Amino acid sequence: MSNNDMGGFTAPGMNEEAAKRTVKVLTQRLTALIDLQLTLKHIHWNVVGPNFIGVHEMLDPQVESVREMTDTIAERIATLGGVPKGTPKAVVDSRTWEDYDIGKALVSDHLVALDKVYNGVNGDHRDAIEVLGEIDPVSEDMITGQLADLEQFQWFVRAHIESASGELKN
Ligand SMILES: [Fe+2]
Repeated sequence: MSNNDMGGFTAPGMNEEAAKRTVKVLTQRLTALIDLQLTLKHIHWNVVGPNFIGVHEMLDPQVESVREMTDTIAERIATLGGVPKGTPKAVVDSRTWEDYDIGKALVSDHLVALDKVYNGVNGDHRDAIEVLGEIDPVSEDMITGQLADLEQFQWFVRAHIESASGELKN
């Protein structure tokens, strides 16, 4: 027998409705970060051209860190009585954006696209913090800590494609 919904237990002191809403928000963040860590590896494999090695090597620590974040979110979902969904089909079914569509391409093309990926992920992480602040401060704190790293990773990306005056390539 398997169960894909909330179980009977949640964190003491948290009502079931708040737990369900928290799990829903965290599930969206889990989907986004599983998608992000796979996309980062895909870019790591497919960048070519000047600055190849710097960008290739910049991406692996981001993959590792984002992978850790997915583990933290998934275990928080389980802690709250939810069922973290990490299969490829679950990820594809629950995401609301298209697959990253660049294959082998220049560093600058990938980084312009990756900057947009981070716009989506980080903007949604920030929105999640606001919602979680009303229903679960523990999850709010967790996602807030992650966003500090994700925003720094986006800065690393943008620093490659910005001019000195702060304009972005596109
Ligand atoms: Fe590698």
